[in-house]
Amino acid sequence: MTHRRRAFHPQTSSVSEGFDPSLSVMAVRPPIYPVSTYAFSSAAQAAHYFELALGKTERAPGEDPGLIYARLNNPNAEMFEDALTAVEKDANAAAAFSSGMSAITTTLLSLAKPGQKILYERPVYGGTDHFFRHMLPELKVEAIAVSPGGWAEAARTHAREVAVAYVETPANPTLRMLDLEALRGCLDAAVSDRRVPLLVDNTFLGPVFQSPLKHGADIALYSATKFLGGHSDLVAGAITASDPALVAQVKTTRAFLGTICEPFTAWLLQRSMATLWLRMTKQSKNASRLAEIVKAHPAVRDVHYPTLFVGDQARIFQKQCTAPGSMIAIDLHGGREAAFRFLDSLELVRLAVSLGGVESLACHPLTTTASEMSEEDLREGGVTEGLVRISVGVEYWRDLQKDLVAALDAAR
Ligand SMILES: Cc1ncc(COP(=O)(O)O)c(C=O)c1O
Repeated sequence: MTHRRRAFHPQTSSVSEGFDPSLSVMAVRPPIYPVSTYAFSSAAQAAHYFELALGKTERAPGEDPGLIYARLNNPNAEMFEDALTAVEKDANAAAAFSSGMSAITTTLLSLAKPGQKILYERPVYGGTDHFFRHMLPELKVEAIAVSPGGWAEAARTHAREVAVAYVETPANPTLRMLDLEALRGCLDAAVSDRRVPLLVDNTFLGPVFQSPLKHGADIALYSATKFLGGHSDLVAGAITASDPALVAQVKTTRAFLGTICEPFTAWLLQRSMATLWLRMTKQSKNASRLAEIVKAHPAVRDVHYPTLFVGDQARIFQKQCTAPGSMIAIDLHGGREAAFRFLDSLELVRLAVSLGGVESLACHPLTTTASEMSEEDLREGGVTEGLVRISVGVEYWRDLQKDLVAALDAAR
């Protein structure tokens, strides 16, 4: 099923790569393969495919891994993986998952062993935070929160046991950015006998506006539920990497945990890839306009949005990202009460968690997506009582402006 990649700009690849019509009765778009198991041409072929799947035999150059059973691989997941590999700069492999959380948990369970440590910077998505603080310790893996600016020391202190460095940039929900090249430098300086895998949750900017692999990351990770899917009609996850062996290792864990993306969802994802650039570019333009307008409103204490960053955050944005994206976090003067009034007054923007869809959404992270975070993590992460998070969609921006300004008026 493997599709041979061609050298196009990612904008073109997002439409045309990952699918070869000659493999599917010359259909111009991919069919769905809702199939659980695949026939082998011989018993020897079955044995060979299993050896390949279990990593007991190396794949010959250009050899397909061979379809076995849909929990190990399926054509739709593979086609989406090929499409994502083609659009992610410096990627040579990808893996699709049943959710962003299963991408995170499967990858970390594959890379970190009992007795080892994961270093991460706050804030991270609430589900990730829960996994780090409540579930990994039960498996004897310690997740250590590193304060901004503390990476050099943390990497030195935990050099022997660090299995993975994990960051979200921009982080959910405050859009705090982290300099990936500087972080790579800290890890390499502290640990010289091996490369510590750096995982970057790139959900907020997607492969369109930020290329973590180019800046020293080993794995770029996505909640594909968000911008990759883009229509709030599926739940999925993905990783990409430059090193195919790293992805192969994670795929082995995925096969045993059963966390692969099923065919229909993978098909929807591949369909969405064709409009990824259009959607994200339009959403980012909308958000840039709205962030400026919202900042000027008297109910607003602060706006977290990349084009409004100053100092080091602005430097990182300019160096690492090609556009600000469509997530805006607004800190309101009136704290939680004002935030709730604002959210309850919205008419066009829907009050919902999640993000990255074609429709605009807003939520109050402190009492929803980040509600399980500790007091210290909330403080360190800048998640305040008055913070609301807005995911800007593709609507006409003046309609969004009217809705947001009316809700801000109500929040005064
Ligand atoms: C930044 C980030 N990473 C990971 C996830 C988890 O993804 P999923 O909900 O697809 O499991 C989310 C979900 O909101 C997220 O915002």
